[in-house]
Amino acid sequence: MKKLKKFPSVIVTLFLLSLTIEAHAHGDVTPHPVDTTGLDPLGAEWIVPNPYRGNDKAVAIGAVGYLHNCAGCHGLNAVSGGVAPDLLKLDNECLDLASKLKQAACLKDADVYFKDITLNGKKNGEGRSTMPGYAGVFTQEAVWAVRAYVDSRTIEERAKKPY
Ligand code: HEC
Repeated sequence: MKKLKKFPSVIVTLFLLSLTIEAHAHGDVTPHPVDTTGLDPLGAEWIVPNPYRGNDKAVAIGAVGYLHNCAGCHGLNAVSGGVAPDLLKLDNECLDLASKLKQAACLKDADVYFKDITLNGKKNGEGRSTMPGYAGVFTQEAVWAVRAYVDSRTIEERAKKPY
């Protein structure tokens, strides 16, 4: 009986493992557009800091955008598996600052950093792309929605334990 009970979880584990292996093996990192219907349009000029910070609808839309585009490397639910940097660490330093004013300035800088890397991607020393750029596929609304999602996940994780 014990063996039978354990069986399903083994299958689930194997299935999840195969998904992970597939994601890495196929390396499907083609940027996918994010449907931002329902969010206030932001226009062509970049607005900083992120105008969607704390906006629940943007967080939900950003979660989908993140899942389709970033999770393969940065981890499901923005919990890094070590393949790519832990995005939850980006805001941490800022949120540790006691002054709200300094916190806001720090988050604004982190927004700009996040936006620039998301749009342009990253290359290693030999010029090989380590992260795709999303410029041309992500609208401003999409970038800030994904950023709002990462922000909200950071706050969630900090509530559970000191990060
Ligand atoms: C193919 C894997 C891959 C995908 C897909 C990917 N990234 Fe990355 N990302 C990386 C790697 C690798 C780095 C580190 C690159 C380096 O420093 O050279 C990185 C770095 C970053 C950084 C800087 C992190 C830091 O601590 O300095 C941000 C921000 C970032 N990615 C955001 C995103 C977002 C947002 C998405 C989805 C829209 C995304 N990435 C999709 C692999 C990926």
